[in-house]
Amino acid sequence: MNYCIVKPLTANDSSEIRNIARLSWMWAYRDIYTESFIEEWIRRNYDTEKIRSDISRTHPGGDIIFYGSFVDNRLTGFIETKTTGDEAEILRLYILPDHTRMGIGTKLMDETEKTLLLRGISSVKLYVHRLNAIGIGFYRKRMFRESEIDGDDIKMEKTLVRRVYES
Ligand SMILES: CC(C)(COP(=O)(O)OP(=O)(O)OC[C@H]1O[C@@H](n2cnc3c(N)ncnc32)[C@H](O)[C@@H]1OP(=O)(O)O)[C@@H](O)C(=O)NCCC(=O)NCCS
Repeated sequence: MNYCIVKPLTANDSSEIRNIARLSWMWAYRDIYTESFIEEWIRRNYDTEKIRSDISRTHPGGDIIFYGSFVDNRLTGFIETKTTGDEAEILRLYILPDHTRMGIGTKLMDETEKTLLLRGISSVKLYVHRLNAIGIGFYRKRMFRESEIDGDDIKMEKTLVRRVYES
């Protein structure tokens, strides 16, 4: 893969975020949801104004961390995390299907975890669909562990360890 840079998103990226989410949902959830369900989900949950507003909350005092991965200046994936006090929740992590398995998800998670530790946050949780084997495997490899079942989702949690990033 060409050099991949992870950096905070800007308002201009919001329509591409929606596009990546749509393509990734169609790829990852093709055996779980119908196309029309996915289209409707994206329409309701990826309103570009809302995405822009979330992006604007990514600053040192903000409660959102919204990072994108760029390969040759092209946005290829994103991760959105919400912080509440000393805890964080990974809300979204999506990579363009033709850019998966190249280490991009790992880079996005590395940067996010680094930022969380710098903000003094070590407790991280997320929810992943129970049939999303690739997603579950990805998070397990990053030492997230299943803590409970929540409807169709599995809750996974991890405690970040500071010394990993101290070198
Ligand atoms: C899950 C996802 C974010 C992983 O991102 P990625 O950039 O492909 O992941 P990486 O290349 O960093 O892979 C890291 C590890 O995850 C696992 N993994 C990633 N993709 C995999 C696949 N297609 N099959 C099996 N294992 C996979 C592997 O253990 C991999 O390590 P390896 O390549 O050394 O074996 C990506 O597949 C994706 O966008 N999926 C759709 C959306 C989604 O499910 N998001 C998470 C739930 S919200």
